[in-house]
Amino acid sequence: MPEVVRELEVGLGERSYPIRIGHGLLGSEDLTGFVTGDRVMIVTNDTVAPLYLEKAKACFPGKRVDSVVLPDGEQHKDWQTLNLVFDALLTHRHSRSTTLVALGGGVIGDMAGFAAACYQRGVAFIQIPTTLLSQVDSSVGGKTGINHPLGKNMVGAFHQPRAVLIDTDTLLTLPQRELPAGLAEVIKYGLIRDLPFLDWLETNIKALADRDPAALAEAIYRSCACKAEVVSEDEREGGLRAILNLGHTFGHAIETHAGYGQWLHGEAVGTGMLMALDMSVRLGMLSENDRQRARNLILRAGLPEWPPGDISPARFLDLMAVDKKNVAGALRLVLLRDLGEATVTSEFDSRALDATLAYYCCAANPG
Ligand code: NAD
Ligand code: GLY
Repeated sequence: MPEVVRELEVGLGERSYPIRIGHGLLGSEDLTGFVTGDRVMIVTNDTVAPLYLEKAKACFPGKRVDSVVLPDGEQHKDWQTLNLVFDALLTHRHSRSTTLVALGGGVIGDMAGFAAACYQRGVAFIQIPTTLLSQVDSSVGGKTGINHPLGKNMVGAFHQPRAVLIDTDTLLTLPQRELPAGLAEVIKYGLIRDLPFLDWLETNIKALADRDPAALAEAIYRSCACKAEVVSEDEREGGLRAILNLGHTFGHAIETHAGYGQWLHGEAVGTGMLMALDMSVRLGMLSENDRQRARNLILRAGLPEWPPGDISPARFLDLMAVDKKNVAGALRLVLLRDLGEATVTSEFDSRALDATLAYYCCAANPG
């Protein structure tokens, strides 16, 4: 039975929704209050289904629950796989009053959310994230979508869930490589907006890497609190929300270059944040001491320091030109003015960017 359930709210007026965090929630929480009609379609994948599908079904007593099991992997975050969700909904005759449930990591959350945004012009959905990354980031805030071969997350919609249920017990089955990937997004919150949290992370990073349940629950709570605050202030990324993309412009370029699924999203964000920190120092915005402090934390989390050895500065620039933050062709980057204080700007000396790219590409490929 769950011992402690902590709850936060994403404040969006009549579309506000709760984030419930605790252990043992899957199977014991009743989520029927968030279901519009009498039918539910759980969207999951072939890795997560054997672990958690039956427990997830138990969250909807009295409802007719169907499920669709997608192939696992970032390389399947595409139209073809998305269509399997519509196939299932139509085959089982789901109407506009159905509720979709995303059960899995960020890939499933983004795809199920996008399917919910599109199906019959929009139906309700619930997030049950099962990776650290999805629990601290992708399940909150309503960004949904799929990848295009030419750019990451380039097709999608804003569509908020009705509720987010985070069962921290699911992290016990997470493959080892996925943990640092989630920690990258956790560290991001400390760097962009929450210096006390960054201090806390420096003390607790080993406990987190060792999957200490109390440390993970605290990190998830504080990350979700930070994200909920930002999303409540700027739901559709008119301004502030862009800071949540620290390291992502570099990171998306790495993911696209390497081929979706080769680098984990969180790994690419970790390296991308190191590149953004480096550039912030070159622009005179951040001290070298602070960069080293942040770098140590990112590396202690187990994240990679260098981009792939075969990516050139020119290729980086080409891929970074396809970014949703760019305005009128100008590259906009999230940089740090200080630890705990991010800024989004297109007004930077491009020589700093060139120097960062040259440094990281050269170090990654010394030959
Ligand atoms: P993922 O969804 O690919 O999950 C990682 C792996 O873990 C997969 O193989 C998955 O099947 C498996 N898995 C999931 N839960 C498990 C569990 N409890 N036990 C064992 N295995 C489990 O990757 P992710 O890191 O969760 O998400 C990355 C995706 O999220 C990217 O596509 C990224 O673009 C997206 N994202 C979206 C947002 C947003 O705001 N919408 C934010 C950040 C990232
Ligand atoms: N992960 C970035 C955002 O939700 O805005």
